[in-house]
This record gives sequence, structure tokens and C-alpha cells, in this order.
Amino acid sequence: MRIAVTGGAGYIGSHTCTLLLAAGHDVLIIDNFNNSKSDVLDRIEKVAGVRPRINQTDITQADALSAVFSDYRPDAVLHFAGLKAVGEAVENPLEYYRVNVGGSVSLFQAMENVGCNKIVFSSSATVYGDPDQVPIVENHPLRPTNPYGQSKRYVEKILEDWGQANSNLAAVNLRYFNPFGAHPTALLGENPQGIPNNLMPYVAQVATGQAAELLVFGDDYDTPDGTGVRDYIHVMDLAAAHLKALDLTVRKAGVKAINVGTGNGYSVMQMINAFKRASNREIPYRVVDRRPGDIAECVADPSFAFELLGWKSELGLERMCADAWSYQNSLK
Ligand SMILES: NC(=O)c1ccc[n+]([C@@H]2O[C@H](COP(=O)([O-])OP(=O)(O)OC[C@H]3O[C@@H](n4cnc5c(N)ncnc54)[C@H](O)[C@@H]3O)[C@@H](O)[C@H]2O)c1
Repeated sequence: MRIAVTGGAGYIGSHTCTLLLAAGHDVLIIDNFNNSKSDVLDRIEKVAGVRPRINQTDITQADALSAVFSDYRPDAVLHFAGLKAVGEAVENPLEYYRVNVGGSVSLFQAMENVGCNKIVFSSSATVYGDPDQVPIVENHPLRPTNPYGQSKRYVEKILEDWGQANSNLAAVNLRYFNPFGAHPTALLGENPQGIPNNLMPYVAQVATGQAAELLVFGDDYDTPDGTGVRDYIHVMDLAAAHLKALDLTVRKAGVKAINVGTGNGYSVMQMINAFKRASNREIPYRVVDRRPGDIAECVADPSFAFELLGWKSELGLERMCADAWSYQNSLK
């Protein structure tokens, strides 16, 4: 298939592109390199043995994006492009809605113009907000607590409405839990600039000495050790889920939302200890106040993904930490 991958140069997109290319798909990455670098293309090529095509376009530039679509005429789209820092979204909600919502609308318009009606969208477990119960099932109410999560919820809703109007639309909203880890070759991984927003890239930076200490936001949550519990999923497992979701869009029209997690929750302290074991380094940390908007526990019920896609996670915590550590070392 001809697959347009928005944000394909980013963390999750680049790992997914290696699998798409290895499966024989033709891949066009559409990325403005706002949060990635063009050398990722060489790395994808090294891993997959095939170089993806690239078009450096901003998804919010509707005319330019439509021109790319008229030219490439994709069979399907994987839509990763967007902004993803919760704190930044709280400070600058308009920019988040412009890129994440506005950019998605230009993308859907460009798809409609060329009759492309298969899409897998990078949604997030943040659409659930503070859950009433864990593990979280897909029909849990959607109550995002910040503009980032809200932008994901809006895009899901836009796809649902588009699906009502277009019975040929096949859309899968993949609600990611907490992606972590790196490609087993250490050629691809997550390398955020500055202090990372997410726990595990932050832990990895402390292990290498790039950051002096880890701040643990709150140890008085209602969890076994008081620190926040999340469902960490290996980025390669997450990438694999995209290929299964793509298969679903080929088999079936309709709009679906599917959790992509492991079903296992680990606390901040458990994650620090797992990374200590993988890296054999000390991870100095200091407990500070809770961060506003953070929740105690967020863990997926992944059974719908298995039922609908035949997908489940395979790579455990030790492997996630080991791969992330190899990647960190490769950056030196
Ligand atoms: N990483 C996570 O923890 C996580 C969790 C849930 C959902 N998601 C979602 O998954 C998607 C991918 O996340 P990621 O971690 O790979 O992020 P990332 O920042 O590494 O990748 C996003 C890519 O999109 C590109 N991009 C951003 N704005 C663009 C624009 N206007 N036009 C074209 N390209 C643009 C960036 O340059 C980057 O290459 C995002 O939509 C994110 O919100 C991520």
C-alpha cells in the first residue's frame, strides 16, 4: 500500500516506518521536523533496508498538504504529527488546537480530496482524564483535564462525525498509554531536548548524568508506594499495533477507538529501580509536590485490542529499559 505517515520522523512514527517498509509498503513521511531531525531517514533506511520518501510539509498548511496528497495519492494515512507536551499545552492552548486540531482537519480534507478513507490516528490515554476505575476500558467517559488531551478528544470526535457522513471511512483512534524504549539496534529512540516532560526519558538522562537528579512529583497518591502508576509500553510493540490497525482499516469501514497498553501498571519508584538495574547506574531523585493535573493511576484494559486487532504487547519492562539504555549510550 501507499502510506502517508505524518510525523513519521518523530519517536513513534520512525519506529513504525521501519515496520511498514519491512512489510513492503511504500512510505511517504510528511514532517516539518519541528521535533525531529532529517538524519532519522538514514537511520530508518539502515534498519529497514529501504529509504522512505520524505516531504517536508507542515500539516497546518492546507494547500501545500493537499498538493502533496494529489501528487502521492496514498491508500492510507498514519497520523502521528502533532505537539505533545502537556505543560506547554496548558500555557499555549491555541497553538495546540491550531496544530493538533487544525492540522488534522487540513489532513482529513486533503484525504477527502483524493478519496483516501483509511486512517490510523495517534490518540492518547489522556482523553480519559482521571479514571473512575482501572484498568480503563474504551467506553470509559472521556474527560481530558488539559488542552493536549482535549485536542486528541476533538480529533477523535471529528473522525466520528466524518465517519457518520462517509460510510467508507475506516478510522482507528489508537489511545496510547506510556510509550517507552527504543529500537533494538539502538539506531532509533527518543531524544528530547532539555528536561523531558515524560518520566522515563528524564530517568534516562539522569542515569547518563545529563540531568543531575530526578524530581518525583508526589509520593502521597493512593497507590502501593504512593507514587504515580502508569502503563508503559515498548515503542516496538506500539509500532506493531499500527500495522494491525492498518489491516483493520483494509478489512472494515467504521470508526473505532482502541487502547494500546500492556495492562500492567508500574509506579515511578518501580520504574526508577528497573532502570537502575538495566543501566547499572545510580538515579538520584528528590520527591517534590504533586504536579497539577497529574493522576494517581492510568492503566489500560488492552483486551479490545486483542479482540479486534489480534494484537497484544510482547516486550516487558526489562527489555524496555535495556533498549532505552542502549539508545542513550549510542548518543554519546
Ligand atoms: N510519546 C508519547 O508519550 C505519546 C503518548 C500518547 C500519544 N502520543 C501522540 O503520538 C504522536 C507521536 O508522538 P511522538 O512521541 O512520536 O512525538 P514526536 O514529537 O517525536 O513526533 C511528532 C512528529 O510530528 C512532527 N510535527 C509536529 N508538528 C508538525 C506539523 N505541524 N506538521 C508536520 N509535522 C509535524 C514533529 O517534527 C515530529 O517529527 C503525537 O501525536 C503524540 O501526541 C504520544
